[in-house]
Amino acid sequence: MKDNDSLSKPKPVILTCAQPTGMLTIGNYLGAVRNWADMLQRHECYFGIVDLHAITTPPQPAVLRQNVFQCVAQYVACGLDPDKCHQFAQSHVVGHTELAWVLTCLTPVGELQRMTQFKDKVAKLGFKTAETESTDGEIKFSHEGARAQASINAGLLCYPVLMAADILLYNADLVPVGEDQRQHLELCRDLAQRFNHQYSKTFVIPEPYVPKTGSRIMSLADPTRKMSKSDDHHRATLFILDEPDQIRKKIASAVTDSESEIRANSDKPGISNLLIIHSGLSGRPVPELEDHFSGKGYGELKSELTELVSETLAPIRTRYQELIADREYLKSILSRGAEAAQKRANKNLSKVYRKVGFPERTRK
Ligand code: AMP
Ligand code: TRP
Repeated sequence: MKDNDSLSKPKPVILTCAQPTGMLTIGNYLGAVRNWADMLQRHECYFGIVDLHAITTPPQPAVLRQNVFQCVAQYVACGLDPDKCHQFAQSHVVGHTELAWVLTCLTPVGELQRMTQFKDKVAKLGFKTAETESTDGEIKFSHEGARAQASINAGLLCYPVLMAADILLYNADLVPVGEDQRQHLELCRDLAQRFNHQYSKTFVIPEPYVPKTGSRIMSLADPTRKMSKSDDHHRATLFILDEPDQIRKKIASAVTDSESEIRANSDKPGISNLLIIHSGLSGRPVPELEDHFSGKGYGELKSELTELVSETLAPIRTRYQELIADREYLKSILSRGAEAAQKRANKNLSKVYRKVGFPERTRK
């Protein structure tokens, strides 16, 4: 009876995407990829590698291509079984940019200019002094900034609409995202509602799924900042492909504090972070670890954690090396993924086109 139920009921659809940028960190693993792997059984899962988004700050073409394959290899090595989910490159599926255009025409420019990530990116490009913000949050460029503005491409501004299209094209129920993507997801929900209201109910309003544990692994060098792929400090970030020796050195030099008690607390961000990583990997709750380490020193925590991280990552690293050497297999994963994604995308996009009023194409 139970089996029949699960056969007949369609599984909720999960979609998430990530840019193909370099190597995954232990933060990506604990806060994202590992949780996705846990969802494969009970959901229909789509994982997009968003190469179209990546060219908003264009990498070298050869690097971009290689990054896409590295991304698939890392996902599979981390447990995203390609037989149980659809992994695809965004550029392989027709419909993302098409739907993005339809949604662009429902999006006021001001809304995009107010997005936090857009403002941050503009600031990072070095235009802090050149821009001022008017009271409605719109960015105005000064004379000096007007020149600089030429290098802020429209893709950066329209990025959240493409992201909304990525989600709505599949009518996803749940979207696993990090805290930093919540605002983008909110825009996606608004656009879905706006479309449904203007035409008729078409889109599922997607819910964000932000994991409770491991959602914020901090830098080992500065535990008040999030661990990130692009940290300049060479010992700040644990990458999932790090060798045991690198893992040992990074954890040994992780910033702690001048006390000696092993306890998770906001005034002990370094120790808290190490305990959270331990807990994420060992599955033991933090209070239990505090008991376990009671009376022991930071050195013991660090050496136990080093062992745990090395043990967890060793099979991932081995599997990755096998996968990255087999380009044909990686291509076949993307090809199967794109086929499934395209099928679902076609259905939704034709519905949207019909509702918008584009004439039906007759085929001979
Ligand atoms: P990014 O590395 O920013 O492309 O993020 C990809 C995914 O990993 C998102 O779901 C992020 O929320 C998650 N993520 C990135 N860094 C961390 C971190 N330090 N701790 C937990 N999750 C993270
Ligand atoms: N903007 C997301 C990030 O930078 C990546 C992304 C693109 C995404 N499209 C998406 C995430 C659709 C979830 C759903 O992390």
